[in-house]
Amino acid sequence: MIRTVATAPFDGQKPGTSGLRKKVPVFQQPNYVENFVQSVFDSLSDFEGETLVVGGDGRFYNREAIQKVIKMAAAAGFGRVMVGKGGILSTPAASCVIRKHGAFGGIILSASHNPGGPHGDFGIKYNIGNGGPAPEKITDAIFARTKTISEYRIADVPDVDLDRLGITRVANMVVDVIDPVEDYAELMASLFDFEAIRALFAGGFTMRFDAMSAVTGPYAKAIIEGTLGAPAGTVINAEPLPDFGGHHPDPNLVHAKDLFNLMMGSEAPDLGAASDGDGDRNLIIGRGRFVTPSDSLALIAANAHLAPGYKGGIAGIARSMPTSGAADRVADKLGIKCYETPTGWKFFGNLLDVGLATICGEESAGTGSNHVREKDGLWAVLMWLNILAARGESVDAIVVDYWRGYGRNYYTRHDYEEIDASAAEGLIADLRARLASLPGQSFGGLAVERADDFAYDDPVDGSMTTKQGLRIFFEGGSRIVYRLSGTGTAGATLRVYIERFEGDPARQDQDPQVALADLIAISRSLPDIAGRTGRTEPDVIT
Ligand code: G1P
Ligand code: ZN
Repeated sequence: MIRTVATAPFDGQKPGTSGLRKKVPVFQQPNYVENFVQSVFDSLSDFEGETLVVGGDGRFYNREAIQKVIKMAAAAGFGRVMVGKGGILSTPAASCVIRKHGAFGGIILSASHNPGGPHGDFGIKYNIGNGGPAPEKITDAIFARTKTISEYRIADVPDVDLDRLGITRVANMVVDVIDPVEDYAELMASLFDFEAIRALFAGGFTMRFDAMSAVTGPYAKAIIEGTLGAPAGTVINAEPLPDFGGHHPDPNLVHAKDLFNLMMGSEAPDLGAASDGDGDRNLIIGRGRFVTPSDSLALIAANAHLAPGYKGGIAGIARSMPTSGAADRVADKLGIKCYETPTGWKFFGNLLDVGLATICGEESAGTGSNHVREKDGLWAVLMWLNILAARGESVDAIVVDYWRGYGRNYYTRHDYEEIDASAAEGLIADLRARLASLPGQSFGGLAVERADDFAYDDPVDGSMTTKQGLRIFFEGGSRIVYRLSGTGTAGATLRVYIERFEGDPARQDQDPQVALADLIAISRSLPDIAGRTGRTEPDVIT
């Protein structure tokens, strides 16, 4: 019943990334999914008879890949696979299920916020028993294995009916098709004041949640419209579609433009929110007020005690290095530490596991806490609802009050997408070589105070991660950061992060692109982005 298939090394997961992400046709090549999944299993040990959680964001090829994973898990000796009905599990829900059921780990099928469909992106990643992305020593082992693999094993059995809840047998293994929402919804109910949020909606509070035809639709419908009593129609684009309706399921101001326009117009509800392809990112917009993810992290940290799950206060905050320094100010006031980690959620896991941090976030619209080991889009939305219910003020009032109290970190990220990979690498290499000479020099009238290549010394496991982004600090607390994206699938994406602190309340209400205009000009001229990449403007501004 178990078939061993000869195969050959393949172009696998890059070192340092948390999963394999490629275009769908790449995954459709014979043995491709099998090679990666076998490389994952070959990099793990002692999982005989254990539980593996499997699910994805519903994108094109989700079901096909899941059938392969199930049959290979059976061949590898797992005792049970828990899979979301229809193959659905949002990334945070998968993390929740892994933790709640004491699973050995999980395989998540997703390419996050990247477009889906037959020509879109697909991805596979492995999460460990704490519910978080595999640490580097495992992802490196997987990568090494993809270069030597010679065979894989698969159970020769019919496909499992993913649309019927309950238990079936696959070879010597049990497959449990579970409700993808149940465990997650129960966890949310334990963290937030659902009574107060129900009362908020009952009192006429209005909201639009755009699920972007991606995985959070069923979760948001069940929790926001179901349990919390928001009117039907509050959640839009609620059905997960294999191609996300042809849209780019990234909840930023470019791809969630309709929501943004609604929120800036006269018909705006009290709160606008959205999540991405796999449900780990969030967008929060109040009536007439966009909340940057960096501000949202700081505000959530400052107000978390209003939610029952955090009423005892938070132990610490963690933010990725490119995320603005707003959270640091909140941490100072609370008398707790704010950890600065490399980009990507996996670095938060250690801090959360040992209780050094409670709340984490990234500028790329990822916010979360120690309730799971992934960022969590719907969690952030429910946290905001809890804060709004407890404070009885508008989003705008809460944000402005926060700026007045802590000061405002003006912030923007400029992305130059699909640029020539060698031009991008050359730009970074040359700037890296110039870093030591920058302090003391002035650009556009602003003096550089220091410059470095961010490295992270993990306080928990002692591991060192280097080359995580070039940071240039200017006088007055301004900063420009350059790094190349690690998640793209075509060419290279240069990300430029620009930040300036403004403590004067009279000057806190400008458009960030205006408030940061001088630094933006410096960000382009200093490494000669136009000359090296041929781009005079970024493709995406967030
Ligand atoms: C991007 C974001 C990063 C996030 C990651 C996964 O990575 O910038 O914050 O953790 O997606 O969602 P990047 O493409 O910049 O490497
Ligand atoms: Zn995502």
